[in-house]
Amino acid sequence: VPRKARNKKGKGTISVPSAKAGTDYKVYDVPPDCIRMDLNTNLLGPNPAVTKVIRTRPFETHQYPSPDSDELREALAKEWKVDPGHLVCGNGVDDMISLSIRALTEKGDRVAYPTPSFSMYKFFARAHRNTIVEVPLKKGFEPDIDGLLKADARLTLIANPNNPSGNKFSNLDLERLLNETGGMVAIDEAYIEYSGGSFIGRLEEFPNMVILRTFSKAYAMAGLRVGVAAASGGIDRLKRLKPPFNLDVVSEAAALAALKNKVWLDRTLGVIRKERPRVQEALGKMGFKVHPSVTNFLLCGAPMDSEELCLGLAAKGVLIKDFGGVPGLEGHVRITIGAKKHNDALLKGVKEVLEHA
Ligand SMILES: Cc1ncc(COP(=O)(O)O)c(C=O)c1O
Repeated sequence: VPRKARNKKGKGTISVPSAKAGTDYKVYDVPPDCIRMDLNTNLLGPNPAVTKVIRTRPFETHQYPSPDSDELREALAKEWKVDPGHLVCGNGVDDMISLSIRALTEKGDRVAYPTPSFSMYKFFARAHRNTIVEVPLKKGFEPDIDGLLKADARLTLIANPNNPSGNKFSNLDLERLLNETGGMVAIDEAYIEYSGGSFIGRLEEFPNMVILRTFSKAYAMAGLRVGVAAASGGIDRLKRLKPPFNLDVVSEAAALAALKNKVWLDRTLGVIRKERPRVQEALGKMGFKVHPSVTNFLLCGAPMDSEELCLGLAAKGVLIKDFGGVPGLEGHVRITIGAKKHNDALLKGVKEVLEHA
């Protein structure tokens, strides 16, 4: 759609997922071309290598893709120095969470995860009729490893770095969980490019570990839906339940191109490294309690009602996520870090909303 035509649209509405559950949506009134700082995506825009592939490659879309995304698995195996036989690919990490739950647990089995964390763990565990054990994070959003072990779960899901808190858990804590649990542990590394310190190289050491990785965040491909699960001990069970053809030809080619485009990835990581402390400091000066983050987002205690802040910003064309209704996160919002122009728009909008509160 030409930009001009889009700008003629006038005020519109937009549905955003609520922080409480995967199925629940809130509708916001927004001006056109609003800035989406609510979903932790890459605000630098589409990865240029991906756009080039989509525009120029004569895809044979009348044929099925490779059933097991062989080319992408080979490329990822080289990148991560793992066995390609230890990887399965699919339609985003969401698909891989669902697959892990279906493959590694039976209906009724206990599935544990820390809270607050990514809302889709509950969504898929509930859909699979597991017994859900939520283990609150401790002060400073540190994991309660004793609590997770006591949960005696068949599968523990743990986002590292964690969403929405933005912190990374210590290797010692994760190693203890992996060593002492009697079940499987899926470590969701959706934001690992920002923090470093992946466990992907330790698949053989921990046969009960599954690592989940996505192209949605640092690789800027949320709209194409590419996710990967890596495992040693659990891989046969994952393969048995993975539907064939669950990654389409265009998305697989796009992921291969994005993986090669190191310049884009470095640029992305550089922007976040530079902008995150600047936004953190500016929000702090306006009265926000900003939690330390190693990711592309900040969890903040707002100096006013969090929902009113989100609605006020949405009316100005900046969407952030309200966590005020989540137990333990009363008054909190989560803000994705973008490029300088997005962050400037956010800070200007926040200042105006606070002035009129
Ligand atoms: C921790 C975590 N895991 C997974 C996802 C979703 O990843 P994908 O887009 O690959 O389904 C998100 C998205 O916000 C996330 O925060």
